[in-house]
Amino acid sequence: MRNSSIGASEGEQKLATGKPLSGAEIFALTCQGCHNIEAGLPHRVGPNLSGILGQPAASQAGFAYSPALQAAGLSWSRANLEAWVVAAETLVPGTWMLYHNELQPDEVTLLINYIEQEHLPNPEPVTGTEQQH
Ligand code: HEC
Repeated sequence: MRNSSIGASEGEQKLATGKPLSGAEIFALTCQGCHNIEAGLPHRVGPNLSGILGQPAASQAGFAYSPALQAAGLSWSRANLEAWVVAAETLVPGTWMLYHNELQPDEVTLLINYIEQEHLPNPEPVTGTEQQH
């Protein structure tokens, strides 16, 4: 299924302008329709992703994961997270995350940097990559 993700068309429009986006903006456009990332916020269609880097897959309390992801035996290294964002169903056939990636490789890197930063107890504000108007 193509473009089934919430927010994907909005993301494509913004990406099509050619302006660089920050990791936080990429998360907001492509992931936040289904995922909160701030600690303490509830699960949405997908689980809260706060501190997900380094954790075993399918381990967030209170979220009903697919049998496929529970059986995958993965942990969220940067490499696995990158493979997941690029093609979740290739990494874990049968996953319930219906998301079609439209990001460029450098955008995936910025996105994963942002998710990794959310792992830190006191994340620094995102600087340097935001658009100045
Ligand atoms: C259309 C909704 C949707 C979108 C958009 C989406 N996800 Fe998901 N995500 C899910 C669902 C549902 C699951 C649970 C999958 C399962 O159980 O198989 C999930 C699971 C995950 C997991 C595994 C979490 C864990 O606890 O093991 C990660 C990591 C993740 N998503 C990252 C992302 C990122 C990064 C993006 C943006 C590029 C994104 N997702 C976009 C719905 C979505």
